[in-house]
Amino acid sequence: MCGIVGYIGPKDAYPILIKGLKRLEYRGYDSAGVALINGDLKIYKSYGKVADLENYAKDKDVAGNIGIAHTRWATHGEPNHKNAHPHYSQNKKLAIIHNGIIENYSSLKEELITRGHQFESDTDTEVLIHLIEDVQENEKVNLVEAVRIALNMVIGAYAIAILSKDDPDLLIAARKGSPLVIGIGIDDFFLASDATPLIEYTKQVVYMDDEEIAIIPRGGELQLKTIKNKDKTPYVQKLEMNLSALEKGGYDHFMLKEIYEQPTSIKDSMRGRIHPELGTVTLGGIIDYEQKLAKASRIIMVACGTSWHAALVGEYLFEDIARIPVEVEYGSEFRYRNPIINENDIVIAISQSGETADTLAAISMAKEKGATILGICNVVGSSIARETHAGSYTHAGPEIGVASTKAFTAQVTVLTIMALRVAMLKGSIEKSRFIRLINEMELLPKKVEETLKVNSTILEISKIFTYARNFLYLGRGYNFPVALEGALKLKEISYIHAEGYPAAEMKHGPIALIDKEMPVVVVATKKGNYEKVVSNIEEIKARNGIIIAVVNEGDKEVSKLADYTIEIPETEEMFSPILATIPLQLLAYHIAVRRGCEVDMPRNLAKSVTVE
Ligand code: AGP
Repeated sequence: MCGIVGYIGPKDAYPILIKGLKRLEYRGYDSAGVALINGDLKIYKSYGKVADLENYAKDKDVAGNIGIAHTRWATHGEPNHKNAHPHYSQNKKLAIIHNGIIENYSSLKEELITRGHQFESDTDTEVLIHLIEDVQENEKVNLVEAVRIALNMVIGAYAIAILSKDDPDLLIAARKGSPLVIGIGIDDFFLASDATPLIEYTKQVVYMDDEEIAIIPRGGELQLKTIKNKDKTPYVQKLEMNLSALEKGGYDHFMLKEIYEQPTSIKDSMRGRIHPELGTVTLGGIIDYEQKLAKASRIIMVACGTSWHAALVGEYLFEDIARIPVEVEYGSEFRYRNPIINENDIVIAISQSGETADTLAAISMAKEKGATILGICNVVGSSIARETHAGSYTHAGPEIGVASTKAFTAQVTVLTIMALRVAMLKGSIEKSRFIRLINEMELLPKKVEETLKVNSTILEISKIFTYARNFLYLGRGYNFPVALEGALKLKEISYIHAEGYPAAEMKHGPIALIDKEMPVVVVATKKGNYEKVVSNIEEIKARNGIIIAVVNEGDKEVSKLADYTIEIPETEEMFSPILATIPLQLLAYHIAVRRGCEVDMPRNLAKSVTVE
């Protein structure tokens, strides 16, 4: 997803912009650029990394105390120099950067071409800045009004920042469907796609809402207005994150840091929500909807990727203890298959970034059809969070590594608390079981710490399988989604093909794949259909398969059969996904590192997929 940074104030803009782009590198990108004003409006951009841009600009005039900068993740037009942002208007007096998709850019471009506009790139973004210029010239209005009129003409998603050579004391921004945050300094303003580039300068931020335009004057007051010309009062929030949350804290990669943060992130996701001493659990964020949730005839969970795997765990949880039917949907499918939705439906959107376009579009559609939308997001103030009627944040802290780890276990934790709350309200769970579960839940952070001790074992196992070409992951019941998640982790960071399957499904095809070249990871923790998983392992061994088994400490049966055993602490069956996933995260991590892969920024991937 693209990254946006802007600055206006007394300081030199260029170093702030470059540092900000580096803070956003984790989002994935293919080119970078800056625009600065110092008498003239200058644009410098480069295909490749931010370091390539710095190299390109090192002998250029980068003076100026107002600027915008961008990292591009291509949606329209090849990833190359000419398509990199920023883009000039026709008269070279305006510059724009943009994150999102202008869906009607082709028709707008044709119209502008008939009016004499010439384009240098294949992007929708360049069309937008030419449109703004065209409106300003033909309607004889100021730049803010031209931006407003133009934005009413576009269809699609945008987070934009604009500079004007004729107005070096004004920075303009606007958003719809893609995030933008304004940082308020002592005598300067900062702009970014998320808060990470801002926190070393200020903790006072304004999360822009959809269809808002920000008018940011040098040394003046921030103004907000809607594209319908309605003034808005900026809502200033205090940023909870601190810079250290962003540093790698001594780990080689953000991903490893975030795997090791899980005792804390899981504790934070439970904080103030489970009360063993009172024999209850609460979720303040959904308190106004919990009765409606308890009475729901069905729950639809919508997500993508790893969050979709968390939703699958949610299905087992809600059906097991809250006795409510659950349907789990991919956002990208749900949004287009014209599903049957009514006002009795509860839709739960699960998203780490809160900006995944497919999930956001799916819940907007469901909301229009009358459903109640709840959210489980990790980013406060994110678009999905703001689209829901209510929700619970996972409080996992910023997840920088593209491969989601702590967000997944935090999502599962919040889903568990939600299912327990509903079961308590419905009386669908015996009190003694409920108390036993929440007492065990309180022990989970410690058990996660215990689980992390398998790291050295997994490092040894990773040395054996560094160059495997395929992997199979198997699990049953609550551990079936764990098998899917383990497979996704491996493929997305090590580029090894891996498939997750329900263990019993082996005999319906995948068993044909088994040979000594196909390592099989089996989640075989004690609870659930343990004996049946043992049989599946025996079937694999009979065909010279190689077994890497995740078992509970002290396991005797599977350990005799498996070629490699990873022992994790025992817990309640429904909490197994929280513990069993961790060894699989570590396995994927160590194999990817040994293969020399860019673990935190895997090829072709973005941390948040804000386009279709
Ligand atoms: C997970 O490791 C991937 N990075 C990806 O599948 C991710 O889970 C998916 O894009 C959904 O993102 P979200 O949770 O931010 O909505």
